[in-house]
Amino acid sequence: MQRRPAEPADGPAGTGVPAGAPAAARITQQVIASFAGCPDPRLGDVMESLVRHLHAFITEVDLTEHEWATAIATLTATGLITDDKRQEFILWSDTLGVSSLVDVLAHPAPTGATESTVLGPFYVPDAPLREYGATIAEQEAGTPAWVHGRVLDLDGRPIAGAEVDVWQNGDNQLYAVQDDNAPDEHLRGRFLTDAAGRYAFLAVRPVPYQIPADGPVGRMLAASARHNWRPAHIHLVVRAPGFQTLTTHVFDAESDHLDDDAVFAVKPSLIGHFARRTADDPHRPTGVQSDWVDMELDVVLTPGEGDTPADPGRTH
Ligand code: BEZ
Ligand code: FE
Repeated sequence: MQRRPAEPADGPAGTGVPAGAPAAARITQQVIASFAGCPDPRLGDVMESLVRHLHAFITEVDLTEHEWATAIATLTATGLITDDKRQEFILWSDTLGVSSLVDVLAHPAPTGATESTVLGPFYVPDAPLREYGATIAEQEAGTPAWVHGRVLDLDGRPIAGAEVDVWQNGDNQLYAVQDDNAPDEHLRGRFLTDAAGRYAFLAVRPVPYQIPADGPVGRMLAASARHNWRPAHIHLVVRAPGFQTLTTHVFDAESDHLDDDAVFAVKPSLIGHFARRTADDPHRPTGVQSDWVDMELDVVLTPGEGDTPADPGRTH
């Protein structure tokens, strides 16, 4: 890569910057020094590191003035398209792998525990509390999928009274919050585990879908020859007193895009299998009249404090 020649610089008195340091390094040092009096040590550390890495990035790619102006316009467009139903900043975080990286750093799962993954923008709190085995589909939405299992601790003991909060898309690719033709409670529900730690619900087989591409993130994906597909999955948040809240997905092993998820959220341990069942299967769940699929999914929680997933404003 072509580099700009180093510029001579005089160290301004009192900054501690050696005279003769390249001008770029001098600017970086001055900005870092400006945070020296930050009363919050964590904020000071984060700002110093941010400046160091940001300046190193700009120097490495030799950012032009035109590219700088494009970046400002892109950030402005991101702000303008963001509202209480659309969170384009999170979409940047998702599509650049930042959301997955933050999740991996925040939730190192001990051996045997179910791994976490991103929350995504379509979570809506306070889904209806439903009975064991109830359907989450308020209207026709695809192949019936019986999802059932236990919530366990690391020693395999059942956790009674755990809350399993689920949401998913239907065969039109849409989540209820995106779908003007679906009731708010469609394809969402909360279930409590019984004394044996069991939960069950009737879902539909999820389908791959495209994340919103009509804004600056979509333009970045198109300009980079990247697609915007996510593999088929069901979202779960599992909560129980004395355990860390688990935010995760179960992915359909037969889905496309398991290897090239637009938001980098697939972990091999989160891939589950739907078994095919026929309409005349005597074990078919109540209300099912067609062929259906069945997935057994045990969830293992890590001891700790429950927390509420950070929600800076989602795409819904
Ligand atoms: C989702 O899984 O719902 C999702 C996650 C990240 C970006 C867009 C959608
Ligand atoms: Fe999703």
